[in-house]
Amino acid sequence: MRMVDIIDTKRNGGTLSDEQLQFFVDGVVKGTIPDYQISALLMAIYFQKMTKEEQTSLTMKMMESGERLDLSRIPGIKVDKHSTGGVGDKVSLPLAAMVAATGIPVPMISGRGLGHTGGTLDKLEAIPGFRVELSEDEFIDQVAQEKLAIVGATGEVAPADKKIYGLRDVTDTVDSIPLIASSIMSKKIASGTDALVIDVKTGTGAFMKTLDQSRLLAKALVEIGKQAGLKCMAVISDMNQPLGNKIGNALEIEESIDVLKGKGPKDLTELVLTLGSYMVVMGEKAQDTTEARKLLEQTIKDGSALKRFAAMIKAQGGDPAVVDNYQLMPQAKYKIPFNADRDGVLTKLSADEVGTASMLLGGGRQKADDKLNYSVGIELHHKLGDHVKAGEPLLTIYSNRREIPDIEQLLRESINISDNGQVPTLIHEIVE
Ligand code: URA
Repeated sequence: MRMVDIIDTKRNGGTLSDEQLQFFVDGVVKGTIPDYQISALLMAIYFQKMTKEEQTSLTMKMMESGERLDLSRIPGIKVDKHSTGGVGDKVSLPLAAMVAATGIPVPMISGRGLGHTGGTLDKLEAIPGFRVELSEDEFIDQVAQEKLAIVGATGEVAPADKKIYGLRDVTDTVDSIPLIASSIMSKKIASGTDALVIDVKTGTGAFMKTLDQSRLLAKALVEIGKQAGLKCMAVISDMNQPLGNKIGNALEIEESIDVLKGKGPKDLTELVLTLGSYMVVMGEKAQDTTEARKLLEQTIKDGSALKRFAAMIKAQGGDPAVVDNYQLMPQAKYKIPFNADRDGVLTKLSADEVGTASMLLGGGRQKADDKLNYSVGIELHHKLGDHVKAGEPLLTIYSNRREIPDIEQLLRESINISDNGQVPTLIHEIVE
């Protein structure tokens, strides 16, 4: 088989066979296909797309290129959640604890952030002592005992994806649905879960800017999951403004704990309950999402979800006292107010720019080896559709520098106040 023929088939709109995809993935992992030929095929896939069968076959071959976790030692249906990433998206933290409190094992393998999205592991590391790197045995034992663990990858997961993702980044082929779907699902299938709920973000702060694109991605992800034998569904949720009111590592831990105490912001709590309801149905603890939602609400009321979260922190070496004392996490030196410059309705609060501002404060990475500052970030006092008055605080900037004119300017550009505006829809669609 020759790589040039595989490129030729896809370039001309043909369908790649299982054997061709296997040859490609093997060559990527062994290093026998040069980067320029891998990149040429990625560009051909970008323009010519893939059939459902090709997408699933590519995913499975990428998944098989590395280690697959065997979670069979953990009794019960294991349920996980994945998000395509957004600003202020700390959903995994309260969600895992609430679902675990209903008795469902939640083995969550998460990632670090680059740019302004993602980074569940970074957020957890704002808790003093918290270890995100557990061995495979430690991870499995903890999920069996405590019903939840949130960790980084325990072995070499989908090495083909690592190589391909690196090349997509520098060849402008990241935003291709078959390539995104195979990248995400190869890693999720390798994580050994039985069921998966996917939060596909849509809007200016998301990978997929339009609802049409987001729907196509959601369908591709769910289709691949089902073909691989997982129970799988997706929720398409809004990312035109940050989720919740706090952006930044320690700040997002605080807000997650607030959700578990029943004091979380409305949008974040609603999304957690929506995603969680599907997880509880998939985990067979409820017949339908109405019953599941009640169970989840009960885990907040009776304190059992907060207890699960504290137990996870303790099991992973962190200080569980943070749930009662947020001051135990790093604190920023300055809290700088940022006020509205006119009366009106908040009509723009760009997730992208607020995320970038938080990153520039030191809360996110511009390069993979950047060190994070856990204390910094932004607190929103208003969300889209709110009426505001001139001079009233819109945001508080948590900074370790007193003078931040560049960041204030960026935030000024991320905000618009007009005469009229609406509260955006949070949950756009369910894809099953
Ligand atoms: N996340 C991934 O893991 N892969 C992609 O291609 C996009 C987002």
